[in-house]
Amino acid sequence: MFFEMEIRRLGRTMGAEVTRVDLNHLGAPAFAQIRDAFHVHKVIAIRDQQLTPAGQIAFSRRFGALEDQLNAHYTIDGCPEVLVLSNDVRDGKPVGLIDGGDYWHSDSSHREYPSMATILFAVKNPLTGGDTEFADMVAAYEALPEPMKGRIAHLNGIHAVSKLKNKRVQVSPRRPDGADFYERQKAIPDQIWPLVRTHPVTGQKALYLSPRFTIGIEGVSAAEADQLLDSLIAHQVRDEFIYRHQWRDGDLVMWDNRCVIHRATGGYSYPDIRTMHRTVIAGDKPFR
Ligand code: OGA
Ligand code: MN
Repeated sequence: MFFEMEIRRLGRTMGAEVTRVDLNHLGAPAFAQIRDAFHVHKVIAIRDQQLTPAGQIAFSRRFGALEDQLNAHYTIDGCPEVLVLSNDVRDGKPVGLIDGGDYWHSDSSHREYPSMATILFAVKNPLTGGDTEFADMVAAYEALPEPMKGRIAHLNGIHAVSKLKNKRVQVSPRRPDGADFYERQKAIPDQIWPLVRTHPVTGQKALYLSPRFTIGIEGVSAAEADQLLDSLIAHQVRDEFIYRHQWRDGDLVMWDNRCVIHRATGGYSYPDIRTMHRTVIAGDKPFR
């Protein structure tokens, strides 16, 4: 029997669920429908999947080349493109990255080629908590007062990976190697990106900054940049731009880092286990 895929809006301005599809058996027309839904809805949750790491890689690659994972010691044996996010422990050692996504951010905005899209597959959901929040940066940009749009139109944000360079964030006390890890990262060069970027496919303008990675504004004094960043950060995470995803077993969620910021909300603790498999599609350099 053949079922048509169904796509239903989840959030106020973005987010959709996709049902009646099996990513292990996805023809070209069905893939095109999913890709279009991804561009329209920015965050899509594809329900009821059963995917091996190899199956997740195969699906992810249809969108483009995959990124190397920065935390290589938490990848799956034989599948270096798949990172494990988890609070599980084996033989006293963490099996995955425990503090992934703990502040609002767009993935890899601190790298020379920021991520296009991130895909998480829920391997094990905790009994409580573990939601992921997403904020729509097209809606946030459009809702800015015109004078603010004018003020930021030609400004660039400075994006840094080390948490030790950023007064808006803290190293998670849950992460055993955290302090050393972020100390080493201080040497990694910052990246400079427009505060407003144009989406290469939809042509929509989106705010492009985050409390996790944006530490300053090029050519603007620290005091003035802090004030402007504080006000943009308060604006970008207003309730009306947010969709909060409550994970179901079998969910595969994919989001567009070019126009969405996201964060993990926590709210669970060992031995209540949350485990995700993560793949990332490489992106191009942001442009105005
Ligand atoms: C990520 C991330 C959030 C979460 O994988 O990039 O931020 O809820 N994850 O796990
Ligand atoms: Mn992330």
